This record gives sequence, structure tokens and C-alpha cells, in this order.
Amino acid sequence: MFKLRVAEDYKEMSAMGASEIAKQIIENPKLALGLSAGSTPIGTYQELIKLHETEKLDFSQITTFNLDEYVGLESDHPQSFAHYMWNKFLSKVNIQQENVHFPSGILNETDQTIKEYEQKIKEVNGIDIQILGVGQNGHIGFNEPNRFLNKNTHIETLTDETIKSNARFFNEINVVPKKAITMGIGNILETRKIIFMAYGSEKAYAVKKTLNGKITTEYPSSFLQLHPDVTVILDKEAAKFLSI
Ligand code: GLP
Repeated sequence: MFKLRVAEDYKEMSAMGASEIAKQIIENPKLALGLSAGSTPIGTYQELIKLHETEKLDFSQITTFNLDEYVGLESDHPQSFAHYMWNKFLSKVNIQQENVHFPSGILNETDQTIKEYEQKIKEVNGIDIQILGVGQNGHIGFNEPNRFLNKNTHIETLTDETIKSNARFFNEINVVPKKAITMGIGNILETRKIIFMAYGSEKAYAVKKTLNGKITTEYPSSFLQLHPDVTVILDKEAAKFLSI
């Protein structure tokens, strides 16, 4: 079920995202928070840092789990999602390092690390609140459009479209990893609450397909229609194809 909130602009949308998350943290200081990289939630992370600095929003008991990571990048690689998260958010709040979890991009050819990641999520009794963006092709995490989707955390081969789109974060397209490890569609649907965010007109079509399109593996974000508690936070541009 979707609860829709449309902001005037990116700044307002980021404030809305942060206040939803802050409310949950205040209610449950031991919250398990699912984090997402990409450009969309950066403003939300900045607002959360502000709330930490000005209102003493406390992250000391929070556990975090990231949705995805590029295969082949060490966690200190400047384009890894682990580096992004520490740089843009985690190092600026009072989170305990041992409570921060990422799927490892460095895999040893067994799926042991994947199983361990899922085990850690189980140990905290699942993710309470998951932040999600969306790719223009409907990917969530790195679950790419396909004839079938994976339920659990797995290795995904990235589509040319995603590689092209993510080249903006790398110096050249040839160095963009071709594979990623991502939580599966089942893991995402098992989270208790989702904050789904999108901004800009280039995401308007993705938003419409996510909220109102047919549920299809060819558009993975459409599966969010099956989740009981999704707060959708958009700016006006991203909402322009919705009839509200
Ligand atoms: C990526 C990530 C997603 C993200 C999406 C949109 O590649 N794997 O988690 O939501 O693309 O990114 P952006 O917010 O930069 O548009």
C-alpha cells in the first residue's frame, strides 16, 4: 500500500524523508535501517546529519544494512557504495561501526558471504525501515528487469542501461563494474516499512510504472505494489504523470 507525499522540490523532499526516518528512530532507538546509495537519498542523509547535530537524533543503537554493492570494488574504493555511505552519512553521526553492514563486493566464489549477510539481517529480526530509490528501468537495489527475479541476496549482471547511467559516478564507462551484489526482491518485500524516493522528470515514468503499472519482473519496482507499507516521497516533477 502506498502513502504518497509530493514535495515542491528536492530540499523539501529530503526533509520529508529525514523526518519519516527520524520519527521511526525516536520510536525505536534500536531500529534496523536499510540504506541505499545513489544520488536520490543524499539530501535525506544530509538532513539526518543535521537532526543529529541540532536535535541530538541518536544513532548509537541503530543497525544499518546496505541494499547493494558493486562486485570487484573493495570497500575503500571511492566508487564503492560502502565508501559512499561512510563519506556522505555514517561517519557524520554517532553510529557504532560494528552495527554497520554491507554486502561484500569481494566474493570468494562461494555464496558463504551472501548467506552470512542474510543471517545478520535475521539476527536483528529483519529490517524495520528501508530507503529505496529507483532506476529509470525500474531496478530497485540492483534487481534488474528480467524474465525472473531473485528472492534472496544474489549476484546480478547489470544491464547496459544501468552501466551507462552509473557511468556518471566513474571517470569512464569502461571501469563501471558489470556485476553487483544486491538484496533480492523477497528481501525488499520482507522489510517492515519502505521509504521510496524519486526526484526529477527523468524518474516520472518510473514512478508511474512503479505505482500504477502491471506487476511484472520486467519492471522490478512494480513489485512494491505488494508491500503493505510504502511511503512514496517525490518532488513535483517525479509525480507529474500521476493522477493525484
Ligand atoms: C543505482 C542503485 C539503486 C539506486 C538507483 C537510482 O544504481 N543500485 O539503489 O536507487 O541506481 O540511483 P539515483 O538515485 O542516483 O538515480
